[in-house]
Amino acid sequence: MKQIFEGIYTDGKSIYTKNLIVGKKVYKEKLIQKNGNEYREWDPYRSKYCAGIKKGLNKSIFYEGCTAIYLGSAEGTTVSHVSDIIGKKGAVFCIDISEIAMNKLTQLAEDRENIYPILSDAQLTENYEEYFTQKADCLFQDISQRNQADIFVRNSKFLKKGGLGALALKTKSISQSESKENILDYELEILKKEFEILQTIPLDPYEKHHYLILMKKK
Ligand SMILES: C[S@@+](CC[C@H](N)C(=O)[O-])C[C@H]1O[C@@H](n2cnc3c(N)ncnc32)[C@H](O)[C@@H]1O
Repeated sequence: MKQIFEGIYTDGKSIYTKNLIVGKKVYKEKLIQKNGNEYREWDPYRSKYCAGIKKGLNKSIFYEGCTAIYLGSAEGTTVSHVSDIIGKKGAVFCIDISEIAMNKLTQLAEDRENIYPILSDAQLTENYEEYFTQKADCLFQDISQRNQADIFVRNSKFLKKGGLGALALKTKSISQSESKENILDYELEILKKEFEILQTIPLDPYEKHHYLILMKKK
């Protein structure tokens, strides 16, 4: 197993994280044992962040002990791997508008104590600002809405200066008729108000009509 980023590994083919809760699967992923450690296979077809890693992400926003904000956590497929990466000293605050998804995430958080579920619309930042008395180290978003860059910029007030962000941009949610390149350019202009853009990665063949945008807070 070779480490590609802190807490993220590869056997040359698949991507893995070290299982924080040994013996437990989250979404029927493969568990493998190597050198006394248990690794969980990370599926790039089910996680846009993992797809970004497979497509050549330069730098990971998540690391051991960091405080992360995750917008659009759903039931926690990707969040479970973030939980592995950040470890017991880290924290991932997960915001999602779906009550059904949040119920499942809350069950996951019973085992994984570094996950903090927050039921809210990510556009209404005043609903959860009480959680962020200290600024977070990194910000991730995977929300299929028309104003994705705007939601990301609104939440950037919770991110420290120099902190890394990653946005999984679904261009089809913004326009069905405009080209994905034009939509990307338009969304980047909004993000540039608060962020330096470090990398934009098309996520095909794992996800069609998606980019992963890596950035740093100004
Ligand atoms: C594509 S899914 C996220 C998948 C997840 N990131 C993963 O990799 O496991 C998008 C999620 O965004 C949530 N969502 C949509 N609009 C939202 C909003 N305005 N605020 C918060 N969550 C929202 C949905 O409920 C859904 O769970």
